[in-house]
Formats: sequence, C-alpha cells, structure tokens
Amino acid sequence: MLDLLPTDRPALVLAPMQDVTDLPFMRVLARRSLPDWFVTEYFRVHPDSRLNKYILRSISENETGRPIFAQMIGRDIPNLVRTARELAEFPIAGIDLNLGCPAPVVCRKDAGGGLLRHPDQVHEILGALRDAIPGRFTVKTRIGYHTPDEFPALLEIFRSHSIDGLTIHGRTVADRYKTPVRPDFVKLAVDTMPCPVIANGNVVDTATALAFHEKTSSAGLMVGRGAIRNPWLFDQIKSAFLGKPVTTPTHRDLLDYIMDLSTELAREAPAYDTLLHIQRMKKTLVYICDGIDPDFEQAVRRMKTPEEFDSLCRAHLDHSAPLPALPPSESRIFCGFGDLL
Ligand SMILES: Cc1cc2nc3c(=O)[nH]c(=O)nc-3n(C[C@H](O)[C@H](O)[C@H](O)COP(=O)(O)O)c2cc1C
Repeated sequence: MLDLLPTDRPALVLAPMQDVTDLPFMRVLARRSLPDWFVTEYFRVHPDSRLNKYILRSISENETGRPIFAQMIGRDIPNLVRTARELAEFPIAGIDLNLGCPAPVVCRKDAGGGLLRHPDQVHEILGALRDAIPGRFTVKTRIGYHTPDEFPALLEIFRSHSIDGLTIHGRTVADRYKTPVRPDFVKLAVDTMPCPVIANGNVVDTATALAFHEKTSSAGLMVGRGAIRNPWLFDQIKSAFLGKPVTTPTHRDLLDYIMDLSTELAREAPAYDTLLHIQRMKKTLVYICDGIDPDFEQAVRRMKTPEEFDSLCRAHLDHSAPLPALPPSESRIFCGFGDLL
C-alpha cells in the first residue's frame, strides 16, 4: 500500500459502508471530491457464498480513476481463500479483511468484529490469506472486542503476517458507535506496525481530520459517515493539509447532491421500487440531516413518496446559506467527535 500513499499529505480513504457506499454513491461522491482510494461494501463469505453482483459493479464499473479494494467478511478459511482468488479476477487494488463489524448477527457467527474474541483464529486466517494473496492484503479492525486491553495482543498477530496496511476504527466492538474514538490506540499501532496505518472514526470536518492525524501520525485517514454528510470533505481535508483555502458548500449544493444521489440510485437499482427507494434515501439522509434543521429532519422521517421527498428537500434546502462545518456537539450519530479536537 506504500505505493498508493500521497507524498505531500496523509492518504484519504472512503470507508466501506454496507448499503451506502455502492456504485451510485461513489459516482455522486466523485463529482464532488475524491478519496485516494475506495473500499467496497463487504462481500459475505461462507461455504455457499457467491460474489455479490451488485457490489461487483462498484469494481468493474469504477470510472473514478481511483483504486478500489474489495472487502471480505467471514471466518471460513477455504472459502475466504476461494473468494480472494475470485475477486482477484477483477480490477481491484487489493483485498481487505473485515475484523470490525459489530452487527450482532455477524458477531454471533464469529465473523467481522466477532473474530476479535478469537485471536488464534485471526492468526490462522491471516496466515492463510497472506499465503494466498499475491497482491495487496489489508485488514480493517477495531481496537478489541470487549476492551482496548485486547489490542496489543491483536497487534502482535497483525505484525506477524506482513499485511500491506491496517485500518483502525478506534473503538471496541462493544462500543459500537456510542463512544469517542481512541487516538492513543491508533498511535500505538502506528508506532509498532511495519505497514501503513490508517486512522478511522469520527472525522467529520477539516479540524477533526487534522487533529486525528496530529494525535496519531497515521499514514492516512478513512472517512465514512462524515463523507455521506459532506461529500466535499475529501477536497476540503486535502486543502487543509496543504494549507490552501477550504471551500464552504451551501444548502443549495446539498440539495443538488441529494437530488443527484436520488437520481443515480433510482437509475441503478437492480429493481426499482418506490418504497425501497424512499427507505434507502431515508437511511442516507439520517447522516445528512443531523443538525441542518429539526423540521427537515422530522419531515424526512415521515415522508412516504418521492414527490414528498422532492418538495420537502426543496422547501428546506433551496437557499444559499453556508452549511455548518460540524454536526451538533451533542450529536448521537457522530457520538463524541468533539473529543478528537
Ligand atoms: C451504515 C454503515 C455500514 C457500514 N458497513 C461497513 C462495511 O461493510 N465494512 C466495514 O469494514 N465497515 C463498515 N462500516 C464501518 C465504517 O467503515 C467505519 O469504520 C465507521 O463508520 C467509523 O468511521 P466514520 O466515523 O468515519 O463513519 C459501516 C458503518 C456504517 C455506519
């Protein structure tokens, strides 16, 4: 991964987000600002798994000019190896293994973040995948399952497999999204891992990006929900690192973004259905509306039809006031982002 790192600033990466960072989202984001690379939503791996065709489109139809890693989630070694080989047939920058997903249904099966409870199994999986993957092989993890005290032992395992990159979401699985992130544990990894370390969690604006980097000296920053909320964020952060002026988008820019996303999602849906489309927009708007206008937030929760969606977005956003740089300080969605500052 060293060869993908910019020389004049930390790398900026779009976080994988299931049911959000698909091909339409990446396209819409790319029209506003680009990360240095992407990571797909996870490909589920189990004995009967087949590569998800919709997620594959984000690889095979990627026209952004930026590399994309394919992420896998699972615990079954022969099928992880099989899937890595199948994915290698596509134009990917590398394979990433998910060791962080906190969803109970995933953890119960000892996949994603659930694997962090079984360091021996992590050791075995990393060994098998490292042997099987000739190209870049990276890992995305949290800092433990129950407590960050588990992290040093996990780092020892990561160190022993010459992985090409390690992304760390600075929370435990038990923390889910409800705590501030822990830059000190990311720093521990930066100081002890031979590969580039990418810091992740709660980057929502240029100040949180600069602060997370300052506290960790990480090779890069991965941004997820902050980039849904503000798709101009990658360019803004680049400018901030390079000492250039940072642009301030307006509510009307946000309206254009939401409409662009809605159009792309409707066009690319495997089978367009009004209800599903509205549900999908609601899921995305949760991250966008936080702190914009309480009436807008409530109306979005209640909306049922595309017509309602259209008119309420226009009613609340069609004006040129600048967007707030930060979510509300007590935001439940971006919980504890202020602690990075
Ligand atoms: C809706 C949603 C879906 C996610 N899906 C994935 C996923 O498929 N793979 C993964 O490694 N992490 C996934 N994550 C975690 C993010 O990649 C990221 O680690 C987390 O959101 C913290 O970063 P942020 O504060 O910048 O959003 C998901 C997060 C959210 C909110």
